[in-house]
Amino acid sequence: MRSQTQIEEHKKRNREMFNTIADKYDFLNHFLSGGIDYYWRWRALKKLVPIKEATILDLATGTGDFALAARRFSPQRVVGADVALEMIKLGVDKVRKSRSNAVLMGGDAENLPFRDKSYDIVMSAFGVRNFGHISGGLEESHRVLRPGGQLLVLDFCEPTFPIVRGIYLLYFRRVLPLVGGLISGERQAYEYLPRSVSDFPQGGDFVDLMKRVGFIENSVTRLTFGICSIYYGKKC
Ligand SMILES: C[S@@+](CC[C@H](N)C(=O)[O-])C[C@H]1O[C@@H](n2cnc3c(N)ncnc32)[C@H](O)[C@@H]1O
Repeated sequence: MRSQTQIEEHKKRNREMFNTIADKYDFLNHFLSGGIDYYWRWRALKKLVPIKEATILDLATGTGDFALAARRFSPQRVVGADVALEMIKLGVDKVRKSRSNAVLMGGDAENLPFRDKSYDIVMSAFGVRNFGHISGGLEESHRVLRPGGQLLVLDFCEPTFPIVRGIYLLYFRRVLPLVGGLISGERQAYEYLPRSVSDFPQGGDFVDLMKRVGFIENSVTRLTFGICSIYYGKKC
């Protein structure tokens, strides 16, 4: 459990890190995952029960890929919020080019500038793991969701099957920081990635956290040998 000072320090470091790697983020994201991240976002969105003219909030939206992918629901409104403004700037360009109606803005998932019960769907891809205080972020998500609203979280996991786990951890802890570091010039950022996944409450532990915050009908779906998971829950 982080103290308040540690939370603030973590958030500051994290924001600076994503601001620094923003211009390489999309390329490295797709390159290091072999493009499978598109599939993961697509699979995650399939978990949602479509709602007519939904209002959708994408937390830790970064350069906006998840917010843009939500277009397929023809939502009334998609808002993407992130603390790293350099990531948002790139996302805003992508939104403009794709003629989406998504609105991307600066905003802290742990202290959201929105009224209670104002969204039908709150979602986040590869974002929650980076929060300073994960339960705090989930509580805020719960607060801004309408009753019956849906929470969707996509994030990395460590596979449990021994051989797959060995190969994957070798790639994730050794190769990825090396290649990511060489291309971005920010090796620390790509050493942080596997560390943040190790520290993240994965699978059943994350479902327990959702339950404690008050979400119901919670589930976890593991993807691609368990290296990524989709978490889904509802507000009562
Ligand atoms: C790995 S990126 C994910 C970006 C995007 N969702 C995607 O699918 O590629 C993580 C993002 O989380 C953001 N972030 C971390 N903590 C946050 C917080 N408390 N509130 C909002 N955004 C946060 C970072 O600034 C960064 O842009």
